[in-house]
Amino acid sequence: MDVISVIRTKRDRGELTDEQIDWVIDAYTRGEVADEQMSALAMAILLNGMNRREIARWTAAMIASGERMDFSSLSRPTADKHSTGGVGDKITLPLAPLVAACGAAVPQLSGRGLGHTGGTLDKLESVPGWRALLSNEEMLSVLDTTGAVICAAGDGLAPADKKLYALRDVTGTVEAIPLIASSIMSKKIAEGTGSLVLDVKVGSGAFMKTIEDARELASTMVGLGTDHGVKTVALLTDMSTPLGLTAGNALEVRESVEVLAGGGPADVVELTIALAREMLDAAGIRDADPAKALADGSAMDVWRRMIAAQGGDPDAQLPVAREQHVVKAPSSGVLTRLDAYDIGVAAWRLGAGRARKEDPVQAGAGVEMHAKPGDEVTEGQPLLTLHTDTPDRFEYALQSLEGAFDIGSSTDFTATPVILERIA
Ligand code: URA
Repeated sequence: MDVISVIRTKRDRGELTDEQIDWVIDAYTRGEVADEQMSALAMAILLNGMNRREIARWTAAMIASGERMDFSSLSRPTADKHSTGGVGDKITLPLAPLVAACGAAVPQLSGRGLGHTGGTLDKLESVPGWRALLSNEEMLSVLDTTGAVICAAGDGLAPADKKLYALRDVTGTVEAIPLIASSIMSKKIAEGTGSLVLDVKVGSGAFMKTIEDARELASTMVGLGTDHGVKTVALLTDMSTPLGLTAGNALEVRESVEVLAGGGPADVVELTIALAREMLDAAGIRDADPAKALADGSAMDVWRRMIAAQGGDPDAQLPVAREQHVVKAPSSGVLTRLDAYDIGVAAWRLGAGRARKEDPVQAGAGVEMHAKPGDEVTEGQPLLTLHTDTPDRFEYALQSLEGAFDIGSSTDFTATPVILERIA
């Protein structure tokens, strides 16, 4: 087999055979196919697509590139959740301990932020002492003793995806539905969860900007999961405005702890409970009430044990950025729009995210929002507080906020629900 004929097949809108797919994924993982050849193929896939058979085979080949985990020794059913990524999306933090408090085991392999979207591991690393890197044995032990674990995927899990995702990130080929679906599902299937709930984000702050694209991505992933024996459900959820009132690492941990303490912003609580119900249902647990587990402190207990089991101090003071800058409302009225992408870029420029994989992030950096779309605001009141350790970043962050919000009258405002659709 030669790689040029595989690239030509897709370039000329042909269908890749099973043999071509198996070979190219294996040869790329082994280093026989070069990065420039794989990026040409990824671009051809982005432009010309893949059919369901090709996507299924591509996913199976990526799973076969590494190890598969096995949770069959656990006494509880496993349930996992994956978000396609957004701004202020801290849901995994309260959700994993909440679902564990309701009786499921939650093996949550998570990622880091890149670009304007945040990453769960970066957020949790703002908790002093907390470790994202666990061996498979440590992961299983935390899961067994606390019911939930949030950690980085080991190098052995879908290594083809690890290489390919890094390549796509620097070649403008992230936004291809077949590649996103196979990337996410290869890791989740290899991880060995029994059930999976997908939070597919739609809107300016998400990969999928339209509901049609989000539907196609969700149904592709649900099909892949189901074919591999993983009970999979997807919720399409709004990402036109940030989730909650914070975007940034320690800021989001603080808000997640508020949710676990029975408070927190209404949209974060609504989505956390909705996803918890879906995960419990998919895991076959029908008699638990996630709202009660938030109110009675049992989810908080699991959070504290989970953080401590990974070396973190749940009572430690979270880092606070050295400098703040307040953006005031320029007029009075109703906040009719607060754009997720612009807020995400501002948080990133303030130091919450990284431009290159090896860059460090600032734990305290980010954007705090003082109003949500639909709220009344008064001229001169604080609308946003920007946080950073490096004040020379304020100007660059402020540039991304030009045009980030509108203030008008209540007749200009239409509320968007948090949960848009369910696909099973
Ligand atoms: N998250 C992933 O894991 N892979 C993608 O391709 C996009 C988002």
